Amino acid sequence: MPPPDLDKKEETKPAGLPLRIHQIQDGLTTHRLGKKIHYFTELDSTNSHARRLAEQRAQEGEVVIAESQTHGRGRLGRRWVSPPYVNLYLSVILRPTLPPIDAPQITLMAAVALADALAAFIPVLPAIKWPNDILAGGKKLAGVLTESACHGERIDFVILGIGVNINYPVESMPDAIQKRATSMISFTGTNVSRESVVRRLIQDLDRCYGELEEMGFQTVAPRWEARFELRGKKVRVEMTDRIIIGTARGIDRDGALLVENGRGEVQRVVAGDVVPVGD
Ligand code: BTN
Repeated sequence: MPPPDLDKKEETKPAGLPLRIHQIQDGLTTHRLGKKIHYFTELDSTNSHARRLAEQRAQEGEVVIAESQTHGRGRLGRRWVSPPYVNLYLSVILRPTLPPIDAPQITLMAAVALADALAAFIPVLPAIKWPNDILAGGKKLAGVLTESACHGERIDFVILGIGVNINYPVESMPDAIQKRATSMISFTGTNVSRESVVRRLIQDLDRCYGELEEMGFQTVAPRWEARFELRGKKVRVEMTDRIIIGTARGIDRDGALLVENGRGEVQRVVAGDVVPVGD
């Protein structure tokens, strides 16, 4: 059960119109993604549904979109607040040829594509907070959650889940996230076309995924680093079992965060929350 304060404001749901899926698909020039879109008014989680489809042999590139989620999931077992008709909750089924050890590269690639796509609609530069939060004006605008299934030494599928706050006014958000979260409408002042955001996102994901598959992580890593604002800054990394403080140095090829302590030793962090020291 979610903590009660997370539910408080979901009673006052901001209204919006249903997504026009044909408008998203019209003019799509992708190679792999978005040829088939499964659209729902409500799902438990688009990631869970995409996984069920992938297990029933859905094709690479099939997309699941829901107007709302009853059990939207975030990183580290958190809940993703998913009110209807204002945001984007999307999952893509991928069947990459990468070895399982390189699966985290998909998450980083998705953060780059997502930041590129959102930059086209808001007048501020989206930044990436390791590993895959998209921030605008220092607050969380969007997130990525990837879940994979492997078979021996190969990846069977990756479910790439993306949530974006689009026309969800900050005042309508639950108190628990209001201070940390933001929405595209906070920067534009008027409603943003959700169809345009989805189309652009599918195009950018298709492009970046193609680059990763064909040219490797070295094409994606510098673009991820360019949007990583904490590089060279002092950070506190909160992990499940400990906290470390040091200087963020960037990422390695597995997408692990590199943090240098005062003795010049570099530690790899594979899961946790990073905050600038002083926050
Ligand atoms: C995070 O930043 O913690 C990741 C959030 C990911 C949320 C999206 S919404 C669509 C997809 N379905 C889910 O249940 N989660 C992801």
